[in-house]
Amino acid sequence: MSNKIKQQIKNDWSEAPYYDLVESDSAMRYFWGNPIFDDLFEKLDLSKVAELACGHGRHSDWIAKHHDLGSLVLVDINKSNIDYCVERFKSTPNVKFIVNEGSDLKGIPDNSLTALFCYDAMVHFEFDDVFSYLIEIYRCLTPNGMALLHHSNNDKQPGNLYSQNIHWRNYMSASLFKHMAIRAGLRVLEQRVFDWGDAKDLDCVTLLQK
Ligand SMILES: C[S@@+](CC[C@H](N)C(=O)[O-])C[C@H]1O[C@@H](n2cnc3c(N)ncnc32)[C@H](O)[C@@H]1O
Repeated sequence: MSNKIKQQIKNDWSEAPYYDLVESDSAMRYFWGNPIFDDLFEKLDLSKVAELACGHGRHSDWIAKHHDLGSLVLVDINKSNIDYCVERFKSTPNVKFIVNEGSDLKGIPDNSLTALFCYDAMVHFEFDDVFSYLIEIYRCLTPNGMALLHHSNNDKQPGNLYSQNIHWRNYMSASLFKHMAIRAGLRVLEQRVFDWGDAKDLDCVTLLQK
């Protein structure tokens, strides 16, 4: 991403009212209890899991309350989000926190994760950053480890900033994503295109395996 877009991401996602709003039961039900996500999430081995772009950690908090977690790594580009998570997860054992540069998983060793997921965030990422992350995810997953990634399927308006597009979905498609994942060395096990609110087929969730 360019420095200008990086600055915009930091401005858009540091102290957004978004974080409080999406902790509600109705916002959580977009993901948890929704078979589109749950059927795929159940396939993950949560022994050594990472959440990419965790925000205030609502998904990892839910997982920690409903599953047996081994270790957890929380990654976000915004330090204020990671600071929030350090406090939120202070009683949860085996949690590591990483503020990254927006396209890398530095600090996570090679072949060390059984699973990585990203919900409600990659939909906004730049195209080149998604490809970098796919290469990084391949590096960090154990053999047969899996990644579950919720991303954009909006291939309208190439060249727009994400914030100019419907629901801030960045330029991407299920097919382009599949191509990049294969180029990164990953197997594409399943892709599910779905509506986001009233926007038909706007999003996709992809299950990948190393
Ligand atoms: C819409 S919020 C979602 C947060 C969390 N996933 C959730 O569902 O509550 C988007 C998150 O992505 C993070 N983010 C945006 N671009 C990023 C990037 N390129 N790399 C890492 N994190 C990023 C933001 O800091 C923010 O925490």
